[in-house]
Amino acid sequence: MRKNIVAGNWKMNKTFPEGVEFVKELKLALENEKTNCDVVICTPYIHLAAAATILEVSAVGVGAENCADKEAGAYTGEVSAAMVASTGAKYVILGHSERRAYYGETAEILKEKVKLALANNLTPIFCIGEVLAEREAEKQNEVVYAQLAGSLFELSAADFSKIVLAYEPVWAIGTGKTATAQQAQDMHAYIRGVIAEQYGKEVADNTSILYGGSCNPSNAKELFSNPDVDGGLIGGACLKIADFKGVIAGFN
Ligand code: 13P
Repeated sequence: MRKNIVAGNWKMNKTFPEGVEFVKELKLALENEKTNCDVVICTPYIHLAAAATILEVSAVGVGAENCADKEAGAYTGEVSAAMVASTGAKYVILGHSERRAYYGETAEILKEKVKLALANNLTPIFCIGEVLAEREAEKQNEVVYAQLAGSLFELSAADFSKIVLAYEPVWAIGTGKTATAQQAQDMHAYIRGVIAEQYGKEVADNTSILYGGSCNPSNAKELFSNPDVDGGLIGGACLKIADFKGVIAGFN
């Protein structure tokens, strides 16, 4: 059966010393807690090796926030999936709306990134979600369908089964305006239905679909209690240990 996962996305936050201190504190904070979900932190590249080393003997997984769409070579400033994997990281966020909006990442580019992540045994946390105008025009299902089909549906069922999805309505990211539990459930059920049509019910039932967008300690429990919401991708509330712990406790 699918896993429940709470994954933090640090975005562009924390210097190297701040990151190391945070990871050590997080390890201590979670060491004696019984968590009812997998916990992952996705950090800027500079933190990956240190975080993976510190968390090696803990239950917390480490991931990157992006990787290149090319294997290796003359791509100044890029970091490949193989490089990410070589740090000990096991996950990579791909298709975050901030990457799509600010860095021009298209469905085609993301298709390449997903392939390279899988080839390097990284678990992609693949983000999808509509902007406010699309929600207001009631086009959210079409938008999400196109994002899934455009980057993932050429994968074999075996490869698709290695992917974690994150539904992040763009209007809820960093705005304090969370999707209601019902809006989240409706979309997650729609996504699961689409996967079932494409890959069959078993693959759909085994796919973890996380919710992201202003998820915090006060709304996590209600969001996670929905049958098709299998956890969260957390921005702002993952930057402080108490808040992140509070979100993780949404599964208690
Ligand atoms: P916030 O939790 O800050 O709204 O960010 C969500 C997000 O974008 C996680 O990837």
